[in-house]
Amino acid sequence: MATLEIKDLHVSVGTDDGAKEILKGVDLTVRAGETHAIMGPNGSGKSTLSYAVAGHPKYEVTSGTVTLDGEDVLAMSVDERARAGLFLAMQYPVEVPGVSMSNFLRTAATAVRGEAPKLRTWVKEVKASMAELDIDPAFAERSVNEGFSGGEKKRHEILQLALLNPKIAILDETDSGLDVDALRVVSEGVNRFKASGETGVLLITHYTRILRHITPDFVHVFAGGRIVESGGSELADQLESGGYVKYTGEAAGV
Ligand SMILES: Nc1ncnc2c1ncn2[C@@H]1O[C@H](COP(=O)(O)OP(=O)(O)OP(=O)(O)O)[C@@H](O)[C@H]1O
Ligand SMILES: [Mg+2]
Repeated sequence: MATLEIKDLHVSVGTDDGAKEILKGVDLTVRAGETHAIMGPNGSGKSTLSYAVAGHPKYEVTSGTVTLDGEDVLAMSVDERARAGLFLAMQYPVEVPGVSMSNFLRTAATAVRGEAPKLRTWVKEVKASMAELDIDPAFAERSVNEGFSGGEKKRHEILQLALLNPKIAILDETDSGLDVDALRVVSEGVNRFKASGETGVLLITHYTRILRHITPDFVHVFAGGRIVESGGSELADQLESGGYVKYTGEAAGV
């Protein structure tokens, strides 16, 4: 069973004024079968955490460890991380003009599975997943994310999740910009992914509304580059009413 373990992670990003530390000692363990939600103010480093785990070259890990089932994730290249079973749905999915969605998905599935999926079963698989997510089949021939609306991009992130079936999925604001119906469809997609109980989900969000569809086992408050409080799903409701004041500013020491 998969376990992602993040210990005392410090991450810096290069700026014109030199390296700036953004993550200041993140500790988090996500096990298969668990859903963790991370909530926190803008700019607190939530996306930085997801990029650092996924291996974005702009983010330098200065200390700490990240392991997946005991294997050193930080020593892996980006595609090795994907093959090892890590998946990141980005807050701002990138557009790839000239590469069709269907080619992109098949290439990604081939890389992650270690062999090209058989064409006939693959076409069926993609069609079924697209139907489950209410995605028009015409999207298969469009360039990856090019001209997609915000909500369409988010749906396609979940399509990738369904087809790649990772061990641990990090979903960075997958709920942002979704209309009510899309939120339900996307949440159902995540719940289908979770249903096996063999995968872990780390959900970064600003809104409790998605947590009504996807129940978190743990909620973490992220502020000033680290987790400052953890609790159960009731913590999300407290944050919604009380905001982050008690975790930010000089009084909180962050
Ligand atoms: N290349 C960079 N140069 C300077 N600062 C950066 C760079 N990349 C990230 N940062 C800063 O790091 C901080 C954390 O950013 P991050 O995107 O991780 O925040 P976040 O918690 O995901 O915020 P949001 O809720 O708005 O998505 C921000 O203050 C951001 O400006
Ligand atoms: Mg972010």
